[in-house]
Amino acid sequence: MMISTKHKIIFGNSRDMRELKDESVHLTVTSPPYFNAPFDYPDLFKSYDEFLDLMKEVAGELFRVTASGRIAAFVTDDMLVDGEKFPVVADITRIMKDAGFRYRDRIVWVKPKGYIRISRRSGVLLQHPYPMYFYPDNLQESILIFQKGKFDYSYLKTLSPKILEQSRINLKEYNEKEIYLSVWENIDGFVATDMWKITNVLPIKGRLEEGIAAFPDEIARRLIKLFTFVGENVLDPFLGSATTSKVAKELGRNSFGYELDLELKEVVLKKLKAKQNTLTGDVIEVVQRPDAQRLRASLQHKVKARRSVTEKPKSVAKLK
Ligand SMILES: C[S@@+](CC[C@H](N)C(=O)[O-])C[C@H]1O[C@@H](n2cnc3c(N)ncnc32)[C@H](O)[C@@H]1O
Repeated sequence: MMISTKHKIIFGNSRDMRELKDESVHLTVTSPPYFNAPFDYPDLFKSYDEFLDLMKEVAGELFRVTASGRIAAFVTDDMLVDGEKFPVVADITRIMKDAGFRYRDRIVWVKPKGYIRISRRSGVLLQHPYPMYFYPDNLQESILIFQKGKFDYSYLKTLSPKILEQSRINLKEYNEKEIYLSVWENIDGFVATDMWKITNVLPIKGRLEEGIAAFPDEIARRLIKLFTFVGENVLDPFLGSATTSKVAKELGRNSFGYELDLELKEVVLKKLKAKQNTLTGDVIEVVQRPDAQRLRASLQHKVKARRSVTEKPKSVAKLK
């Protein structure tokens, strides 16, 4: 899209988004750190309460910065840690409602069957084919959609015909990809085999997003097209590899991104092609706050240590 966009990336804690003015964000697309996920964020939080406290502070800031009538979307899932499932989806829903948002919708993102990643919990029953040994492998996440009040549709009358035309949703794509359903399967828009209906960001060694738990571009692309007009501002308070900003840039939207981990700076700049000149002259500004941290190397170190333990023959006791 031939439109010049601006992107402000802030390395710092998103519990405080002081750089953003009230009501300056038209859409949030984010995926918070998966609470102490054993293979992404081991022991990042001291307790589940600490995780919930962060969500509460971020929710408060999101309510402040979100423009009236606009959307905040969370890609997230309940988290299994040491045999206990933490109800992240329910808790984030409650927290966002308490912050003042309306709960508008929930979409289920179904991942390909080939994506079992590391858990392989269903294998327990294969080893012990008797009742009570059943643990399902998880192939879904929720996309939670919250709204700040109601949208005033007369806003469309204030937009130029050009912006309206550029923001028009492609109905052929909407129908073909079945975007109208509350279950999104064909992420990335193609069917490789029956088993790989959806392409997600696989944990392939050496790829840019390794160890970040990135979501696929297509999730950000759908949400940005469905909930913003060209030239508007998209925010990701948990930027990771910068998928949200990258897609916003491609779609002619501006973005703000917060990321705690300074060690992701190179990944972010690479993904945003920050060092390449574009025809449209997009602007990418990076701010480094004193509360930024260095996390990635130490998290990866912990993940490797865990992996070397779990790769040994599994006992039922360990998997529970
Ligand atoms: C699940 S990842 C986001 C991945 C992203 N959607 C992508 O596609 O790359 C969550 C990110 O939140 C960051 N994070 C954790 N706590 C944070 C905080 N308090 N403020 C800002 N970022 C934080 C983590 O370092 C991690 O990169």
